Amino acid sequence: MKISILTLFPEMFTPLEGSIIGRARNSGKIEIETINIRDYSTDKHRKCDDAPFGGGAGMLMTPQPIADCITAIDPDHKAKRIYLSPKGKTLNQKIVRDLASGGDLVLLCGHYEGVDQRIIDLFIDEEVSIGDYVLTGGELPAMVLTDAVARYVDGVISSDSLTAESFSDDLLEYPQYTRPQVFMGLEVPEVLLNGNHKLIDEWRRERSLELTKKLRPDILKDSPDR
Ligand code: ADE
Repeated sequence: MKISILTLFPEMFTPLEGSIIGRARNSGKIEIETINIRDYSTDKHRKCDDAPFGGGAGMLMTPQPIADCITAIDPDHKAKRIYLSPKGKTLNQKIVRDLASGGDLVLLCGHYEGVDQRIIDLFIDEEVSIGDYVLTGGELPAMVLTDAVARYVDGVISSDSLTAESFSDDLLEYPQYTRPQVFMGLEVPEVLLNGNHKLIDEWRRERSLELTKKLRPDILKDSPDR
C-alpha cells in the first residue's frame, strides 16, 4: 500500500520515520511519501495562500498548487483521496479497517483556514476528521490516520495484536499485567498466573465487557448511540 501525503510542511512528518512504522517503511511493507505542495506553485514567489473572498480572518490555501500536485501524484484517480478536516466524518476503527483493505491513499493536509472549496468539490473523495476539535492543520490528523491504517497492512504488526486490541470486536481491551507479580502492593490477578487459557479468556472477556460498559457504553453493539 502506498500513502501519499500532500502538505506545505513535509518536515513535520518525522514521527512516521521511527519505531514500527519506520521499520515497516524500511522493509518495504508500506510506502509513505510526503509531497510539498509548494513545489507545484506556479507563482514566482511560490505563494500558496491568499485571503478569502468575502472577507474574514486568516488565509486560505489557493487551488492551483493543490490541483497540480494531486494531478501529478494521482493522474488517473486510482487512489482514494482524503482531505483531513474537522468537517469530515469522525475517524474510527471501522473506517481505519475499510481504508486499510482498500487501495492507495492520497491525504491532503489543509493549513491556515483550510483549502478553497473547489479543491474539495473537484478532487476529494472523502473528508475525515480525527475528532471534534480544531488543529492548526491536517498534518497531525494525516499522521494519526497513516499510523492507524499502517498497522493493518500485512506484516506490520502481528495479527494476534490486532484481534486482541480495543475496538476489534466493539469492546475495549482487557487490563494487561507483566512482571513483577506484586508492584507497590498490588498483585496481578490470580487467574492470569495459573496457565488455564480457557479461564484466562473468560476473565479477559468479562473485564472487556465490564470496562466498555463503564467507560464507553456508546460503542457496545446494542447501544442506542450506535
Ligand atoms: N484539521 C484541523 N482540525 C482537524 C481535525 N480535528 N481533524 C482533521 N483535520 C483537521
